[in-house]
Amino acid sequence: MAVKNVLRMGEPCLLLKAAPVEQFDTPELHALIEDLEDTMLAQNGAGIAAPQIDVSLRVVIFGQLQSEQNPRYPDADIVPYTVLINPVLTPISTEMEDGWEGCLSVPGLRGIVPRYTKLHYRGFDQYGNEVDRLVEGFHARVVQHECDHLDGVLYPMRINDLSQFGYSDVFFPNQDIQDD
Ligand code: NI
Repeated sequence: MAVKNVLRMGEPCLLLKAAPVEQFDTPELHALIEDLEDTMLAQNGAGIAAPQIDVSLRVVIFGQLQSEQNPRYPDADIVPYTVLINPVLTPISTEMEDGWEGCLSVPGLRGIVPRYTKLHYRGFDQYGNEVDRLVEGFHARVVQHECDHLDGVLYPMRINDLSQFGYSDVFFPNQDIQDD
């Protein structure tokens, strides 16, 4: 389909509560998934949510579309490519850990964000098949980040210590980190 323009922080669509998908396996939904895939690949994103391309629906995709490691997260575990629609997230412990995050809607910046370490998530793929997983670590972090987009939450809103929020090339001067 097409690489779409990614909305940047400040755009009203990024702050909305997105609407649930009512019908699966439709041409419109398949076209949306293709646009999200093309846009995520073009930007080397770890994931992307529909509101980031100005579609206020509860649809996210994340994980590895290509076989090689994501150059933005070279040390991260491989997360399987996943389409997740109308997600429900349930932390399975109160334990949280801090980790660096970036976002295609907040280009050039990184911040340390606390996330639940272990998570149960459920939802559907674009065909209406159920998705049901127990995950932890980076996989759990990515799901929490992407699903936050569906409730109008961007990762800077979750940063506890704003001294740990800044430009990627300042925090990581020797790493070839993408623009986002
Ligand atoms: Ni994001």
